[in-house]
Amino acid sequence: MDKIRVVGGIPLSGRVEISGAKNAALPAMVASLLTADTVNLENIPYVRDVLTTRSLLQDMGAEAEVREDGTATLKAGEVQSCEAPYELVKTMRAAILVLGPLVARFKKARVSLPGGCAIGARPVNLHIMGLERMGAKCDIVHGYVEASTSGLHGAYILLETVTVTGTENLMMAAALAEGETVLDNAACEPEVSDLAALLRGMGAHIEGDGTRTIRIHGVKKLHGCRYRIIPDRIEAGTFAIAAAITRGDVEVCDCNPRHLTAVLTQLSQTGAKVTIGPDSFHVQGRDPITSKNVTTYPYPAFPTDMQAQYMALMTQGDGSAVITETIFENRFMHALELIRMGADITIDGRQALVRGGQPLTGARVLASDLRASASLVLAGLVANGETWIDRVYHLDRGYHKIEEKMARLGANIERVH
Ligand code: EPU
Repeated sequence: MDKIRVVGGIPLSGRVEISGAKNAALPAMVASLLTADTVNLENIPYVRDVLTTRSLLQDMGAEAEVREDGTATLKAGEVQSCEAPYELVKTMRAAILVLGPLVARFKKARVSLPGGCAIGARPVNLHIMGLERMGAKCDIVHGYVEASTSGLHGAYILLETVTVTGTENLMMAAALAEGETVLDNAACEPEVSDLAALLRGMGAHIEGDGTRTIRIHGVKKLHGCRYRIIPDRIEAGTFAIAAAITRGDVEVCDCNPRHLTAVLTQLSQTGAKVTIGPDSFHVQGRDPITSKNVTTYPYPAFPTDMQAQYMALMTQGDGSAVITETIFENRFMHALELIRMGADITIDGRQALVRGGQPLTGARVLASDLRASASLVLAGLVANGETWIDRVYHLDRGYHKIEEKMARLGANIERVH
């Protein structure tokens, strides 16, 4: 199994180009199930979750090609099976996204329930509740959701918790349902708006995406289209923190800084100099790094997907910072590994108290999930000596060759097979 070796102490400098957004690419690929025509996507990141989604589509009998240049050609002309098996769902929870499109177009679906994971409970009750409101019958049988319908219809659906993939799943289903669906307390994440834009390109009638109320007027049929996915705001944010934590000087290119307002504002408050351009931003790390509290919330607030990376930064702060995680119940696994590197962190429920100023020392550490792995890489960049990160497959789920991008910025980092 691959490992990543990092030797800390080098300020990163230079330009880094950001890939397409993983969390926009996955629903976009799945949306191809809504039409028999070809959907051509651009700026698809060549990461493991994308390849898992390709396998999922192929498994159903769809044609799915994903290339390293970021293009994907998808055609679900015929589908032999309307099933997402446990083997695929357990490696990638986003596979639940096929539920809505399959029920909407083929009137049936059998999708494994995701269960828990390294960041806590990941229920899909709201996905199921929404589909039932639209006229699907859903049963849980042998760990699978079995859904069927004689035809979906529009409905008013209030989502009691803001859910990103839940909003996406229901938006896709509603695109082919009869009549109007209103999704209230919908997720406003840029990835949701990106999916809405793709669906509009396929002929769907959707308005209100990017706000808490999305209205979808169902159509009988959707058609193929060509669409370019937005840049990955979490990859961009990870490089922003890499610049700040190493007191480096990095220009983060091919991204949308407006999607990162909360992260870049927070970073400025810690002392980094952040200069924003139209499709890039520049971060100059400064000493001292000021310790600042942060709380994760749904977009547009500070994202849970940047919490682990921010914790790595706060280990280098000049005081204490409280990090509060409100989205997931158990998303502090990285803290335990950071402590092994010398960080002073106390966890109390959903809060972590990070006392900064402790020098980190390289160690052998285990990645527990995608963003936790990124935080360990960031910690390794400033640790004294060698850090070895195991279970790098977590990192590969969402970052395209992060070690090569960091090495081009001067980091002493390599993948060891
Ligand atoms: N929730 C429910 N019921 C549901 C669905 C969600 O109670 O039916 C709860 C969850 O337990 C959680 C909260 O709602 O407490 C938010 O979960 P959400 O459904 O928004 O998460 P998700 O859609 O499964 C996506 C991203 C995650 C990201 C979260 C939050 C994708 C493929 N995944 O997950 O990304 O952390 O939104 O922003 O879009 C990552 O990329 O590393 C990652 C985990």
